[in-house]
Amino acid sequence: MAKNQLNCIGVLTSGGDAPGMNAAIRAVVRRGLAKGLQVKGIMKGYEGLIDEQIKDMQAHDVSDTIQKGGTVLYTARCKEMRTEEGVRRAAENCLKHGIEGLVVIGGDGSFRGAEALANHGINVVGVPGTIDLDISCTEYTIGFDTAVNTAMEAIDKVRDTSTSHERCSIIEVMGRNAGYIALWCGIANGAEDILLPEKYDYDEQKIIDNIIENRRRGKAHHIIVNAEGIGHSASMARRIEAATGIDTRATILGHMQRGGSPTAKDRVYASVMGCMAVDVLCEGKTKRVIGYKNGHFQDFDIMEGLAMEKHIDDYEVEIASSLSHNYNKYDQVFGGEFAE
Ligand code: F6P
Repeated sequence: MAKNQLNCIGVLTSGGDAPGMNAAIRAVVRRGLAKGLQVKGIMKGYEGLIDEQIKDMQAHDVSDTIQKGGTVLYTARCKEMRTEEGVRRAAENCLKHGIEGLVVIGGDGSFRGAEALANHGINVVGVPGTIDLDISCTEYTIGFDTAVNTAMEAIDKVRDTSTSHERCSIIEVMGRNAGYIALWCGIANGAEDILLPEKYDYDEQKIIDNIIENRRRGKAHHIIVNAEGIGHSASMARRIEAATGIDTRATILGHMQRGGSPTAKDRVYASVMGCMAVDVLCEGKTKRVIGYKNGHFQDFDIMEGLAMEKHIDDYEVEIASSLSHNYNKYDQVFGGEFAE
């Protein structure tokens, strides 16, 4: 049963960190205090809930944090929370510390933990925090905007040296199961090829043919944005170099994409979502997740929200292909000659 009258709420960050999480924590703390609630910060995600690393939060505890990357509450991927015993201990500690409502800032794995806690009587609301943009019910997740801008700037730099040396570059961006960062960078950086976990057909010969054809037509570089979920960038580079005779280098951007000062969008959207999570808890709701859909911030049932369909947009993929100066692909898509 959801409790209507809350006195104390907790907030934690869980899973991979994302720029903008601090803005969300700050919003939860200050909105909660403004509504007369006691607010507790839980360190290291569910791990800190199970180990009782819990502290009272005051407004000044979140001063000077909105511009910082990472999460001041730290985070963890907690295996114990996937067990019934772990969930039971987490729920017991909520009760022991008077936490009646909990804001969980994280990805879908973190929300499954939240749902389990709700089944033990703790009111929970999720706030989507992941650079991967892979939460079904929302068109925005905290950190994606910053991560994609960070990756875009890095790829611009790789492209400079790639062009000078007339090389092919494979640049691997984060996203184990989701290709949103790769697709956005592919468009923003004008990549010749974009390899998405959702779409890639593993036809390397097609890429090799494209590189050779582009070189024949005088193109100095060839940028391939590869998603982490496909991986193997270094061995792919070796195979491409052997097949084309063109110097090929692999660059794995890695965790630098998760750090850095959040963009204005990540700060503002995270602030709105953090406040909304507190408001939703104060309305007596539980098992909700905050999303941004069709131009509005709204709350969804946590499990229904996660179960919604989310696909990479085929139209955006086709656009990326048509803008890539990748003549063969362009001909495939439009069945005609590419006129420069
Ligand atoms: O947080 C999402 C993410 O960055 C994914 O893009 C990536 O696959 C994963 O986390 C990496 O996780 P870890 O930080 O545990 O290496």
